[in-house]
Formats: sequence, C-alpha cells, structure tokens
Amino acid sequence: MTGSQEKGWAGAPRDWPQALLGLRDGRSAQPLGRYAFRRLVRDASRALAEAGVSSPESDARALADLVVGRPLVMVDDVGAAEATRFLTLVARRAAREPLQLITGRMWFRGLELRARPGVFIVRPETEVVAGAAIDAARGLAREAESPGERADGGAARHLAARHRDADGASVRAASGAVSGEAALVPGPLVVDLCTGSGAIAAAVATEVPTARVVAVEIDAVAAALARENCERLAPGRVEVVQADATAPATLAALDGTVDVVVSNPPYVPAGAVEDPETARHDPERALFGGGADGLAVPTAVVRRSAALLRPGGLLVMEHDAGQGAALRAVATAAGLRQVRTGQDLTGRGRYLRARR
Ligand SMILES: C[S@@+](CC[C@H](N)C(=O)[O-])C[C@H]1O[C@@H](n2cnc3c(N)ncnc32)[C@H](O)[C@@H]1O
Repeated sequence: MTGSQEKGWAGAPRDWPQALLGLRDGRSAQPLGRYAFRRLVRDASRALAEAGVSSPESDARALADLVVGRPLVMVDDVGAAEATRFLTLVARRAAREPLQLITGRMWFRGLELRARPGVFIVRPETEVVAGAAIDAARGLAREAESPGERADGGAARHLAARHRDADGASVRAASGAVSGEAALVPGPLVVDLCTGSGAIAAAVATEVPTARVVAVEIDAVAAALARENCERLAPGRVEVVQADATAPATLAALDGTVDVVVSNPPYVPAGAVEDPETARHDPERALFGGGADGLAVPTAVVRRSAALLRPGGLLVMEHDAGQGAALRAVATAAGLRQVRTGQDLTGRGRYLRARR
C-alpha cells in the first residue's frame, strides 16, 4: 500500500477538486447543470484514483447513478442536495469503504444481492467456483429427467430413489434439521458450506431450478443476510442453517446423501490481507482460514464434505492460489478421488474439485 492509498478523507491530497475540498470543510455543494455535474463526476474519479481506488471511473459513475437514480447520460440538472450526497459518498469511497457497502448491493452471476456491513463481500473469482458446482448439479438434474444419459454412473438411480422416497417418512427423517417440505424436491441435493451472504446458494437455486439447496453459515448476521438474499431471489428454495459447517453434528442427517458440496470458506493465510477495503471491512472470521497457512478451516470443510457426499458426489471448494497441492493431499487422505485443482479465468489454481 502506498502513502497516498492510505489517505482517507481527512488526509485528502491538496490537488483534490475544489468541490470535494469544500465539502470536507463543511460546506454544501451547489446545484449543478448537466455538464457541470459530469465534470464533477470526472473530478471525483480522479480523486478516487488518487486515493488508491482500483476502479475509480466506474465507482464514481456508480455513485452518481445511485444518487440521481438514473444513468449519468440521462441526467439534466442536479440539485444541491443530490450533489452534496454524491460528494459525501465519494468521500466514503475515497476513505476505502467498499463500493458494495456504500450502495448496499453487489452482483454475483447476474444476481443482485444485498450487501451489509459485517458480511463478506462476494468476489468475482467465486463465480467460476460456483459455476463448476452449478454445471455438475445441472448435469445431474438433466440425468434425472433423462435417466439414459449418465454423467457419473448411478447418479440417476440415486436421484430417482430420493424422489421415490420423497412422500415417505424415511426421507423426512433422514433430513434431520432441514424441513420436510424441502425434501420433496426431486432434483440434486446441493450444500453450500460457509455461505456468507448466500451468493453461491442463491446462484445454484436460480440456475438449477430443480435443485434442493441447503446453506450453512456460522455467523448470525451473515446467516440472516443469506436468508434474506435467498428468499428474495429464489423464494422457498434455499434452507439456511446457522451452524459450524465443520462440526460432524451439522446436517448429520444428510451424511452420505449430498450430490454436490460447494464452499468458499475462509482460507487467507495469517497476515496476508493487503488492500484496505478487505482489511477494514471484511470480517476476520470470513477471511482467515486459521494457522499460518490459512488451511485449518478448509481442511475441516474437506473432511466434513467427504462425510456429507454420497458415493460419486462432487466437492468444489475455493482456495488461495498457493494452497492447491496441500488441499489435494487433504482430499486424498479424506478418501476422495479424482482430485484436481481447477483454475480461475487468469489460469491460477483456485479451487479443489474431488469426488467421493
Ligand atoms: C470467504 S467468506 C465466503 C462467503 C460466501 N461463500 C461467498 O463466497 O461470498 C467465508 C464465510 O464462512 C463463514 N464461516 C467461517 N467459519 C465457518 C464455519 N466454521 N462454519 C460455517 N461458516 C463459517 C464466515 O462467517 C464467512 O461468511
């Protein structure tokens, strides 16, 4: 982090736009015509760049859109109150508050999710990880519809058996903590461990309409947000359980029955967070995986997943670029097979993929 990156509002560079500096001194912005407001947005973008924000132009535009309630190109005059609010939001972003916490929303695989202080902000690289789990679940859903085409031998038989049992007491009893109603869905069973805002669970539920999705999150604030996001985006489709995802008792009734486990657990090695947005605003429990290598929670998630998965079921778990070999060894030791490391869009090994 450079010196200028560390400067917040109070330490704004001297060459910041007058409008921004005026606001800092307690004055309000003036009403602005269309071109003057666009100039102010350009100035704000330069100010954000100076503060070390990595996407200054798009952030300044997003804040302008938020304040005026429509895209910048459609804006005519902007009142003093709106201009002042815009500058206040720019000041917060310049102090390295994440854009998602300022706007209260974030995007994941085309879904708009609510974002809230104290809950991890979902990252773009997790879209690829979720995609691997969604592809597997979608394949199983198709198999269930046309049992002749099997992807992993026996999956169709497994899903058909669950569907047949769906009216009977055996499935409801086997579901334990999860509701009987959820057990009536005849698609693949997908479990999202460490769900945070519920982003992955909501994406699975919306992209695989027959999937039954159960999400686990230890933190009460995050679990509440996950419920809210999933209920809004996929009503009645995701069951969120607040619990320790690594404890054998959590979802114990589903042991040996899960088709796909997907997880983005905390995995950051101790002291490895660099950018101020993450360090100051993402909760520690969401970041650090435990131990100097960050592998304590991911290791426990792999072991728990091995117990949850049915034979042939798939685990997809995000990890740090340097953790691939260690987690392949953990997965093999846990009895998983076809153990691979999947890559992100830049070719770095970023997720574990293994079958029971
Ligand atoms: C890196 S965040 C990922 C959140 C979400 N999956 C995503 O991709 O945006 C990890 C999440 O795991 C939760 N967590 C940490 N330890 C946990 C545990 N033992 N059991 C369940 N959740 C846990 C944290 O509270 C946090 O919400």
